[in-house]
Amino acid sequence: MSYAASLPWTLESFDFDRIEIQRIRHNEDLFFLLCSASFVESGSDLYTHNLVDHFAGDEALQGWLSQHWEHEELQHGRALATYVKHVWPEFDWEAAFKSFWDEYGAVCTSEQLEPSRGLELAARCVVETGTASLYRALNDITDEPVLKQLTNHIKSDEVRHYKHFYQFFRQYREKEGFGRYKVFRALLRRVNEIKSEDGDIALRHVFDRCYPHLKGNRAEFKRITGKAEGLLRRHIPAEMTVKMLLKPLDLPARLQNALEKPLAKLAEKLFLH
Ligand SMILES: [Fe+2]
Ligand SMILES: [Fe+2]
Repeated sequence: MSYAASLPWTLESFDFDRIEIQRIRHNEDLFFLLCSASFVESGSDLYTHNLVDHFAGDEALQGWLSQHWEHEELQHGRALATYVKHVWPEFDWEAAFKSFWDEYGAVCTSEQLEPSRGLELAARCVVETGTASLYRALNDITDEPVLKQLTNHIKSDEVRHYKHFYQFFRQYREKEGFGRYKVFRALLRRVNEIKSEDGDIALRHVFDRCYPHLKGNRAEFKRITGKAEGLLRRHIPAEMTVKMLLKPLDLPARLQNALEKPLAKLAEKLFLH
């Protein structure tokens, strides 16, 4: 069955031959960020299956996950990979992805999901907040027109994913009746997980492929990827990120307003190492 008809955009929406290569090719920071994002997105099907199993019996949610969400995430992976291959054809994307996949597939198991369905949905809101912020930052960083258009499309998808997970989260909050503190703990757990895992594995496999002679050299890895993360940090949309992160807590408006500013200062650290 083809789901292409339901996708908000497809790879054909872009003319990759019109990439203004001279505007981006020299930018190693963007190369690292785009390539690692393409790996994580391309590994989405594994995560979808875990999630679909987790929500057995909830046909509405399972249907949305497997018929829309998974296809959109995989398309993000394909689009980013296509872009990377056009701009940096000397980089062996397939080989690097394969080595990433061998490691990532082993750690991305269903044990990492929150045991409560509702709390897992809160945690999914954290993940979509992270990706929405990432693509908005990348959109802000680049002046290459094809990448600008691509990151804008992906960012809109991620914001929509967030809204879907949030709506499902609200249903489960009613059903399961957990309190704000539990939600807070679940959000925090997922933030910490993101900081320590997916991105780091992906960046490491990009690094190892680019600098095979430096494989295992943690100091050089940190120096080179730290530069890319610094660039990202300066462009993270802090206000948007904090608003999205706090929303599942359903705080009284005054408290939420009071927290937004101080937390915005922390936001840049949330998704970066
Ligand atoms: Fe995505
Ligand atoms: Fe997403």
